[in-house]
Amino acid sequence: MIQKPRGTMDILPEEIPYWQYIEKTAKETAARYGFSEIRIPTFEATELFLRGVGDTTDVVQKEMYTFTDREDRSYTLRPEGTAGIARAVLENGKLSDALPLRLYYLINCFRYEKPQAGRSREFFQFGVEMFGAGSAAADASVISLADAIIKKIGLKDVNLSINSIGCPECRPKYHAALVEYFKANEDKLCPTCRERLKTNPLRILDCKNPECIELAADAPKTIDNLCEECETHFNQLKLSLESMGIAYTVNPRIVRGLDYYTRTVFEFICDTIGAQSTVCGGGRYDGLINQLGGPKTPGIGFAMGITRLILAMKACGVDIGEPEKPLLYIAPMGGEASVAALGITEKLRLSGVYADCDVCGRSLKAQMKYADKIGAKYTLIIGSSELESGRAQLKKMSDSTQTEVSIYDIDALRLVLGA
Ligand code: HAM
Repeated sequence: MIQKPRGTMDILPEEIPYWQYIEKTAKETAARYGFSEIRIPTFEATELFLRGVGDTTDVVQKEMYTFTDREDRSYTLRPEGTAGIARAVLENGKLSDALPLRLYYLINCFRYEKPQAGRSREFFQFGVEMFGAGSAAADASVISLADAIIKKIGLKDVNLSINSIGCPECRPKYHAALVEYFKANEDKLCPTCRERLKTNPLRILDCKNPECIELAADAPKTIDNLCEECETHFNQLKLSLESMGIAYTVNPRIVRGLDYYTRTVFEFICDTIGAQSTVCGGGRYDGLINQLGGPKTPGIGFAMGITRLILAMKACGVDIGEPEKPLLYIAPMGGEASVAALGITEKLRLSGVYADCDVCGRSLKAQMKYADKIGAKYTLIIGSSELESGRAQLKKMSDSTQTEVSIYDIDALRLVLGA
């Protein structure tokens, strides 16, 4: 049997209520914060991610699904949404709309990672991006949206960590200090981090190797090396979050894995879902639009991993209620009754009732077993005498009580059904 590719998932009907609940909550909350939906292509020119996400990142170096098309052009399945959204904003002249431009998206992303709980090769994100606002207030408002979604979903034990990784002004000095610190201990670093020392020393700070973690604990911190403007920005962010009543911790180890970040970075972490505990990550990217050929435009956003949110929902027992069950199942006996049952069911459905009837030609016994299995609240058996009299017994499944109803008067039938 052909199986799904490693690291992908089938999302079966019984899981769908969780997805719909998260998607609905996230969309409705984002709309209330002034965000509109945007949809972008699943694949983009590879160059976009090399320039946008950064060619020293793990995502670009090791994780991209890249292919050439029939005309030898290089494309990549999007590993994330921000670069594609920035491209779409530029390509469609959206920066001349009222700023800040606020967009949200629900996308699938692709990264060639080692699959485990909460980490897959095709995964799903709900994300937002805000363009044209460079203030700490903008950071706080985007973080507050993530916080509101997480709370509305009903998650507990999710903590916000923030950090500032500076700007092109202060980062070279910080990088130099970092390189100097790690160089002195190079032999203790893992092979990947030894490489990172040359290409992207900041990434050593979030390596998961125990020895690198130990070394990183005493490494110079970004927040101790910020230029005056970045420091003021970070202080204002903290004040803004406090004024909005959003609890946070400053975690100097949050550096994020994508190159476009400047200043504010943040993660919402849920400790009850195992190793892949970051349910939401984001930050400011003031250089990205310019790097992609547009005018200097600040930006900030975040993305949440939907499967991780679902793991967190299950871990803290969020009740999303029971899926809707059919109100009525019509069980016909014989060919003529089958045709009539189909007609009645259709009329009920068109009037908004969740109704069902036999389409398998089953025996009455098998039909009643089926009605029970799908949890129909009422059943109606129709045979030739019911067709003739136009009346049948409506059975309430919970207590087997019966009521005589008219089968041709849909409004009267609906009234008895309470629909
Ligand atoms: P990211 O941290 O790479 O950031 O991903 C955001 C979230 O997507 C993660 O916190 C996690 O919940 C989920 N995620 C990432 N990789 C996987 C995976 N392999 N399997 C399951 N879930 C995963 C970004 O993608 C940025 N574009 C976020 C952003 C938007 N920054 C600014 N604007």
